[in-house]
Amino acid sequence: KIYPKTLFVGQIVKYLPSCQSTNDEASALIAHQDPAEGTIVVTDHQTAGRGQRGNSWEAKPAQNLTFSLILKPNFLAATEQFWLNMAISLGIYDTLSLLLETPVRIKWPNDIYADNKKLGGILIENILQGQNIAWSIIGIGLNVNQTEFTYSTATSLQQQAPLPDNYDLSGILRALSESIEQRYLQLRSNQRDSLKTTYLQTLYRYQEEAYFDRDDQRFRGVITGIDSVGRLAIAVDGQLQYFNFKEVSFVI
Ligand code: BTN
Repeated sequence: KIYPKTLFVGQIVKYLPSCQSTNDEASALIAHQDPAEGTIVVTDHQTAGRGQRGNSWEAKPAQNLTFSLILKPNFLAATEQFWLNMAISLGIYDTLSLLLETPVRIKWPNDIYADNKKLGGILIENILQGQNIAWSIIGIGLNVNQTEFTYSTATSLQQQAPLPDNYDLSGILRALSESIEQRYLQLRSNQRDSLKTTYLQTLYRYQEEAYFDRDDQRFRGVITGIDSVGRLAIAVDGQLQYFNFKEVSFVI
């Protein structure tokens, strides 16, 4: 086994041939075994993978990465959870942008995009202790070698790759462990300004005219930033408006 060059992320990997959801497996580990920070649960096949907004996460077995990383970000208040989201998204971005020539973008709040299509998604579930985050389960689904999708808005590394080779899943998991840990350590050592600056530089449709949907209404606006609790700031007719996730979606 080759270990990632990290202090803790990915030093312990629990592999399951199949399970319902790696987030649920990680949650069970936390409930019963006090796992070390950085432990990863990875599977070849999820039978009940979960996505954002109550969606399911579908991925063909053994072709993609579906895993959950366990962190203990007790330095973060529950109200600061978007900082963790930023660090994780950027860590994923760092690895993928080295692999691909197509520009990779972070689509607020939880998606990774390339070529206007979804490469992967993040589902973070926190366990609080008082005001702070005691445990964080970071579920990541990344389309790697799959080339046929039900949705035309999905894509994979393989489809975006400069060379049509199959990727080595464990190699990508190692690279992700390294880049995610670097960003997490950056957050933990309180380098928040540089984290946020880089996050904005990688943000999908940042400072571009774009269309959005809110409830049944379509409107045009320009993303100008993210506020301290992770709301998306959109300038609409010269007026800044702030949106919680679930309140607004992109028209792709
Ligand atoms: C989304 O795009 O809506 C988020 C998708 C998150 C999927 C991952 S796959 C590993 C982990 N286990 C789950 O059940 N979901 C996350």
